[in-house]
Amino acid sequence: MKRCLVTGGAGFIGSALVRYLLSGEQDTSMVGRVVVLDKLTYAGRWENLEECAKDSRFRFVQGDIGDEALVGRLLIEEKVDSVFHLAAESHVDRSIEGPEAFIQTNLVGTYRLLQAARECQRKLNMAEDFRFLHVSTDEVFGSLGLQDSAFTEETPYRPNSPYSASKAGSDHLARAWFHTFGLPVIITNCSNNYGPRQYPEKLIPVMMLKALAGEKLPVYGDGSNIRDWLYVGDHARGLATACFRGKPGESYNFGGRAEVSNLELVKVLLSLLRELGHPQATEQLISFVKDRPGHDWRYAIDGKKSEQMLGWQPKETFTTGLRRTLEWYLENKDWVSSVQDQGHKSWMEKNYEKRAMGG
Ligand code: NAD
Ligand code: TYD
Repeated sequence: MKRCLVTGGAGFIGSALVRYLLSGEQDTSMVGRVVVLDKLTYAGRWENLEECAKDSRFRFVQGDIGDEALVGRLLIEEKVDSVFHLAAESHVDRSIEGPEAFIQTNLVGTYRLLQAARECQRKLNMAEDFRFLHVSTDEVFGSLGLQDSAFTEETPYRPNSPYSASKAGSDHLARAWFHTFGLPVIITNCSNNYGPRQYPEKLIPVMMLKALAGEKLPVYGDGSNIRDWLYVGDHARGLATACFRGKPGESYNFGGRAEVSNLELVKVLLSLLRELGHPQATEQLISFVKDRPGHDWRYAIDGKKSEQMLGWQPKETFTTGLRRTLEWYLENKDWVSSVQDQGHKSWMEKNYEKRAMGG
């Protein structure tokens, strides 16, 4: 039976992964233990894991991936053989406001975790079975023009934001720990995720909650920037498959086959909200605001390798996934009001007031 550690398991993607690992679906029938290590930053919420606490295979530990002694103890005590590393500072706008936390967690934290994993693998003598799945992003590959080919696993790294630079650095560390120390590392790079429980600082939940409140919808620049959108449940399934079936030393891209400009996305979201009975969600709310500095124009994923080597494909289309997402937020008002706390209010003021004022 697999004994898993999920770092960042109280976050958006981490909590979807924990639910998937405990679900018994496909490869997860061999999961015997799921331990979450999470610092519970503003983005990490215990509410995201509440339903998992009933499962006797689940354990939650609050702590920092940078605490090598804690991580080392936990890995040995739990005889972990599968590390899913998701803990990170994950928001580009925050990385522009304050890059330091991104360097500490994404870079230094990943280094400490890799060291602890090496030590655990050595002490427990798990040469064959141990896996370290490092979860990364397509943003490490930089920005594409309209005619450029989508990112493959061979695309050179060209990160442009403090967030993507810190993730790129952590990918390089993970890769080096495989080549130099033989740690069985697998890296995944995926496109923008969306789905239930995404903290309302990212595009889709920000737009949805503002539209419901009849507030202006702050589209950066002219809204022409393009992202590829992957439903979080599809990503979670991909991560489990990559860890249990992927080859150490390899990296795998996951994409949603759903490239869309931000402006188009907001229009689709508004029309779905109206269909779901919210007539206040009109296009008149759209407001173009000061752009993000260094804003990457387009991301696109070529997912052939993971489709061919792992047999993975996204199940949700953008329309089915977006509808599920909006319905979840509409049905989970308690979650929404619990995350819209003072810290959230302060961030919204800091990020958006200066944009609206053009400064
Ligand atoms: P998130 O911000 O929702 O969650 C991050 C989690 O990590 C939180 O629970 C937080 O408390 C925890 N955390 C932060 N610093 C920590 C530390 N030092 N020690 C322990 N825990 C810590 O992020 P997410 O959107 O779920 O992203 C998860 C991972 O997937 C990240 O590595 C991110 O780079 C990657 N990723 C995200 C996307 C996306 O669209 N959201 C796309 C591709 C890759
Ligand atoms: P975001 O969800 O922050 O993800 P990322 O920057 O990692 O791609 O942003 C997605 C896109 O939406 C990006 O092009 C920036 C844009 N955006 C807005 O136009 N307005 C907003 O309020 C936010 C949060 C993002």
